[in-house]
Amino acid sequence: MINITFVASDGERRKVEIEEGETAREAALYNDVPGIDGDCGGVCACATCHVHVDPEWIDKVGRLTDGSMEADLLQFAEGTTEFSRLACQINMKSILDGLVLHVPDKQY
Ligand code: FES
Repeated sequence: MINITFVASDGERRKVEIEEGETAREAALYNDVPGIDGDCGGVCACATCHVHVDPEWIDKVGRLTDGSMEADLLQFAEGTTEFSRLACQINMKSILDGLVLHVPDKQY
């Protein structure tokens, strides 16, 4: 199992586990993490799974790729930063064990 800590905008931390091969979106939804809606089912079409990757983890997770579908979608999301990613596009693997993701205070 791989651990992820979701940090809410008020600072509350929620540690969850997920199996390798699942996504950070699934980890949030399976554990009822507030603020991650994932409305499109994880097909990179809604941006309601927007997270800010903790700066210490961004190199392992990887930054947005210019011109990608994910980057195009995040252009329209609220409060994007250089650490923004879509949780449905973060595939969990062992090197991400301990990952910290910050949840924006709103997705719309
Ligand atoms: S769940 Fe819709 S873009 Fe991630």
